[in-house]
Amino acid sequence: MNKFIFIFLGLSISTTVLSSPEEDYQRFKDYFLDRFPETEFSDYKNGVYSIDLSSREQWESIEDFPPYEINIEQGEELFNTPFKNGNTYASCFENSGIGIRQNYPYFDEDRGEVVTLELAINECRKSNGEKPYSYYKGGPMADISAYMASTSAGEIFDVKIPNTDEAFNAYEDGKRLYFTKVGQLNFSCADCHVYQTGTKLRADIPSPAIGHPTHFPVYRSSAGRLVTLHERFAGCLNRVRAKPFKAQGEEYRNLEYFISYMSNGLEINGPGSRK
Ligand code: HEC
Repeated sequence: MNKFIFIFLGLSISTTVLSSPEEDYQRFKDYFLDRFPETEFSDYKNGVYSIDLSSREQWESIEDFPPYEINIEQGEELFNTPFKNGNTYASCFENSGIGIRQNYPYFDEDRGEVVTLELAINECRKSNGEKPYSYYKGGPMADISAYMASTSAGEIFDVKIPNTDEAFNAYEDGKRLYFTKVGQLNFSCADCHVYQTGTKLRADIPSPAIGHPTHFPVYRSSAGRLVTLHERFAGCLNRVRAKPFKAQGEEYRNLEYFISYMSNGLEINGPGSRK
């Protein structure tokens, strides 16, 4: 890691004192608010369109007739269709699964690991004797996730980090991955989504690190389908020629934990649409 990153994270090489998640959160927020004074904090839920006004208008017209509407409908139908044993997804979730997206991911202290919404959807299937879904290439997992996100529209992200070493370590793991340079091109997530945010990289402008999970899954017009958050992580790692991790493996769940905590205070507005 270079010096700048150490300074950004509030770590110094001579001391081993780690910054607390609350301090990281404040530092992230202040950094972006300072760098993009025109952007209201609440607008970071819109990803790159919160800082790139030139592409915003076109995106807003797409959102007037959202390409993911059919996915929400399909997701709702799947969500309410009983498993072979007669139960539905509602039986696995708090408040029958409605309006709960903002509480994911959470650190499960009994299991000692981060649980994401999509992991919980598949665990619900398995505990009801059904086969798990794939986390890739859209499909029923992305549809159900999109439907569940849509029932949380306007709810505020509120990810908690329990005061235990295990929870803190999961958060730190995610943060470390975010700032570690990887791949043949030797980039970290932060290189693009913190330091180069707003700068044109070939045809794209990398969005700010805060607000990423609020609008997932995302309908990508380039793919013509929904993409889950972990598939998107893999896409960015491929781009820098790094070997992606397994969707819903520990690395990505911890990474999601970190970026979701950094998005606390923002509204859920998933699913979304992107290029
Ligand atoms: C070489 C630069 C680069 C690196 C490194 C990179 N990304 Fe990206 N990422 C982009 C660009 C460009 C986009 C598309 C524009 C945008 O941000 O929406 C993108 C999109 C995303 C999105 C979707 C944003 C949205 O609103 O739909 C997520 C989430 C994301 N990246 C996470 C990550 C994570 C996590 C890492 C590290 C594992 C990472 N990225 C590494 C450049 C990068």
